[in-house]
Amino acid sequence: APRQPYVVNGQTYQLDEWSNTPPSILSKVNRNIHRLPSHPISILRQIVEDHFSSHTALSPSTPIVSVHQNFDELGFPPDHPGRSLTDSYYLNKEYMLRTHTSAHEVESYRRGLDKWLLSADVYRRDEIDSSHYPVFHQMEGTSVWSLDQLHTLPELNKELAAQLEKCPIQIEDNTKISPSNPYQAHHDPIHAEQITQNLKHSLNSLIFRLFGKQATKDGEPLRVRWIEAYFPFTTPSYEVEVWWEGEWLELLGCGVVMQKTLDQAGVPDKAGWAFGLGLERLSMVLFSIPDIRLFWTQDPRFHTQFSAGKISTFKPYSRYPPCYKDMSFWLPQGAISDTAGKGSGSVAGGGGVSAAGGKGRVFHENDYCEIVREVAGDLVETVTLIDEFTHPKTSRQSKCYRLNYRHMDRSLSNEEVNELQQKVQDRVVEEMGIEMR
Ligand code: PHE
Repeated sequence: APRQPYVVNGQTYQLDEWSNTPPSILSKVNRNIHRLPSHPISILRQIVEDHFSSHTALSPSTPIVSVHQNFDELGFPPDHPGRSLTDSYYLNKEYMLRTHTSAHEVESYRRGLDKWLLSADVYRRDEIDSSHYPVFHQMEGTSVWSLDQLHTLPELNKELAAQLEKCPIQIEDNTKISPSNPYQAHHDPIHAEQITQNLKHSLNSLIFRLFGKQATKDGEPLRVRWIEAYFPFTTPSYEVEVWWEGEWLELLGCGVVMQKTLDQAGVPDKAGWAFGLGLERLSMVLFSIPDIRLFWTQDPRFHTQFSAGKISTFKPYSRYPPCYKDMSFWLPQGAISDTAGKGSGSVAGGGGVSAAGGKGRVFHENDYCEIVREVAGDLVETVTLIDEFTHPKTSRQSKCYRLNYRHMDRSLSNEEVNELQQKVQDRVVEEMGIEMR
């Protein structure tokens, strides 16, 4: 745990029992890779902004938001797993690093904006592998209308549908309105349906813009799939997937904005939709970028490959060799082990069980990974559980993790890696009460 109050962009945040943000994470808050003109994350942001050309593009200057903004005002229940110290980064009990761009919905509607896109870095504690990094980027997009403008929707929807008609896109949508994914009680169902139609057409057309060219090369149409979902701040809610290289790839979450959000923003006479899109996920597939850490490299061999406005295929340059070390240990007697749900990238999906306070005898993989990150930073490539067993007599649990290290810009020496491994070991013994085998 940190010892000095946090100072971020001139603001001081007093520490309390919630403070769990390490310096290595805070060092990312002003990197702004989503604003570097020819960075893949920024190229995609720009393509989405061009697509929604009548939307105002926003980009908040700090990732620090109140817990109220990130969770409470969006209707997250007090016991939602996303709130736990194992899943989110807190400065103190009142302020945190936003876990999603939806944290800015209320304030943006309050500014009177109806159509806006907002791009930003978001922060979540997670496991370590080639597609997870504690900082990533999301884009929030919304369209809302004054109730007296909703009559323009049928015409708009007809145009959008006609444009999509002409595209080689196959939309698989078996979703239905049901008690588990209902229209809102105070919405006229006709209006709710038109807003939902507009949401679907708008996003299908965005996805075709992003994937169409590459996905239809073989003459097959682009396949897009709509799935019912749940978010506390939208209903009905959906997730959208695209068929890409033989698998369904989850792209975004979306839905009709909960009226309570608009009420809190002081615009109760409006209604509309919102979506949240993960930019790394999208960039990795569209640019063929194999490792999420590459987005953070300063290596010119990465940066010179991309140019603004263009989706191009990344050509891997030779990488320095990896070096792995295993670490086997016993959990404290009677400890419960809690592993984050693999691939549950979304706030709403919920990761592991809440270990509120973080002080119980719970071994959470995210806590282990956090210490590894603090010691080794971007030098750690993957942390993989390779073995676990329970002692038949003592019922103590044992785990073995393989830590794979690689420097992006040079070779690592064995001594260096041993030193890192030793530091990780010392810290996990001290902080997690585990015992090396
Ligand atoms: N904020 C949600 C997430 O991160 C995505 C979302 C945005 C869903 C807007 C609905 C509306 O998982």
